Amino acid sequence: MTDHVLVRDEDGVRHITLNRPDKRNALTAAMYAAMADALNDAAAGSGIRVVLFSGAGGFFTGGNDIGDFLANPPQGPDAPVFRFLTALATSPLALVAAVEGQAVGIGTTMLLHCDLVYAAPTARLHVPFVDLGLVPEAASSLLMPRTMGHAMAARMLMLGEPLEAEEARQAGILSGIVPAEALAETALAKARALAAKPAAALRQTKALMKPNQKEVLSVIAREAEIFGQCLRSPEAIAAFQAFMSRGKKQA
Ligand code: COA
Repeated sequence: MTDHVLVRDEDGVRHITLNRPDKRNALTAAMYAAMADALNDAAAGSGIRVVLFSGAGGFFTGGNDIGDFLANPPQGPDAPVFRFLTALATSPLALVAAVEGQAVGIGTTMLLHCDLVYAAPTARLHVPFVDLGLVPEAASSLLMPRTMGHAMAARMLMLGEPLEAEEARQAGILSGIVPAEALAETALAKARALAAKPAAALRQTKALMKPNQKEVLSVIAREAEIFGQCLRSPEAIAAFQAFMSRGKKQA
């Protein structure tokens, strides 16, 4: 149990809110476990038709908690992060995200598995895996080039360039950009609109639109294997330690 992930059900919509704003909603193993459980339980027939992700405090997420990468690196397919990614990639439910501010690492790659993504103009999508000595995850090595073309995906995944909201919309990651003050309301209205549709037709439509689930899961597994090796590399450990000691240097 963690209060860093809030789960609330309303009118067939499950709201999953990342709620660790003092750490930019950086994701710990406990948070992945809570999100995996919330997704799996929603898919198990509890009357939930749509899952809506958002972040508290004006941020989506700063990505995986870097202290956790050092102290508690994910190991094996049962690690909470992989349980979450599997639940996300295979969810039969419609997935909606509302993105404000930073969406780093998995904060961006998880959006590739969502059906509708609405963002505020402050949204900034960034996948600095290579700069951290890491490789893409969440099947982003497959889905990003497929969504936006290799040249744009290379800017993001190889050069590590962030995309601002408008560029991310043009790249095909975002469904729309709305003013920050209207973001929660817009995303909720879209989630409710989906939840009110004929349920079987909606599920079948999503399944038809995502026919490559096996391929996606096998890419997630292949990336995870290499990612796990990279986590223990001197480059990655140095990058994590540099981030963790930033505050101490400034103090
Ligand atoms: N892991 C652990 N802590 C994180 C974090 C992360 N991924 N992202 C942010 N935080 C923490 C910071 O350490 C800081 O904690 P402190 O106040 O105890 O020192 C707090 O959140 C605020 O972060 P700060 O960097 O001051 O906020 P910012 O608004 O200037 O920048 C980010 C936000 C997300 C751009 C920046 O924190 C960042 O680059 N984070 C790392 C992103 C990353 O590389 N993630 C891994 C991807 S695989």
